[in-house]
Amino acid sequence: MQTITKTRLCVIFAFLALTCSVQMTDAKEIPPKFFGKFVLDRSENFDEFLSAKGVNWLLRQMIKLASVTKVIGKGDKPSTYNYENLTSKKNTLYHGWELGKTFRAEGLDGKPHDITFNYVNGELTEKHIRLDEPADNNTETYHYTIDDKDQLVLKMENNNIICRRWFKRQQPK
Ligand SMILES: *[C@@H]1O[C@H](CO)[C@@H](O)[C@H](O)[C@H]1NC(C)=O
Ligand SMILES: *[C@@H]1O[C@H](CO)[C@@H](O)[C@H](O)[C@H]1NC(C)=O
Repeated sequence: MQTITKTRLCVIFAFLALTCSVQMTDAKEIPPKFFGKFVLDRSENFDEFLSAKGVNWLLRQMIKLASVTKVIGKGDKPSTYNYENLTSKKNTLYHGWELGKTFRAEGLDGKPHDITFNYVNGELTEKHIRLDEPADNNTETYHYTIDDKDQLVLKMENNNIICRRWFKRQQPK
């Protein structure tokens, strides 16, 4: 009898714990400070970062000169978001995604990517898996935060080289 009660209690607690953790994951959302249009202002270690990725000098100069604008906002449906990477070369528009849910879309390279956005510990992450690349070299994660100057900070890391790029919020006119 006693064992049965214990087992039941255990099951109930396990159920509660599970429900709690599921609700916490569901409750997660991107804070409004991330919403807006942000224009690339300056970079730190970007050349070293690209170089370590094997990008040649000429291409690096082109990539460094390219203007980049990020647009982050809410989607049409509840719990959905829109994200855009606007550049002189190509625009990538990802609309209507949810946090933690992977979707397939075209990357900047014009190829299919599996993309997942997440929001954990004050950081928005954008993970890309390039589907037609070998598994040891197909993942890229972009980390975004808003700093004390209200700028969007993008952090990328490769082979212990950390690169940061700052985007200034474009004020609505
Ligand atoms: C956004 O565009 C820039 C400039 O072309 C590019 O370097 C960067 O990888 C793009 N970011 C994403 C997440 O596609
Ligand atoms: C890794 O993938 C990138 C992007 O496709 C490519 O430019 C680079 O040459 C690859 N590096 C290696 C070591 O395969």
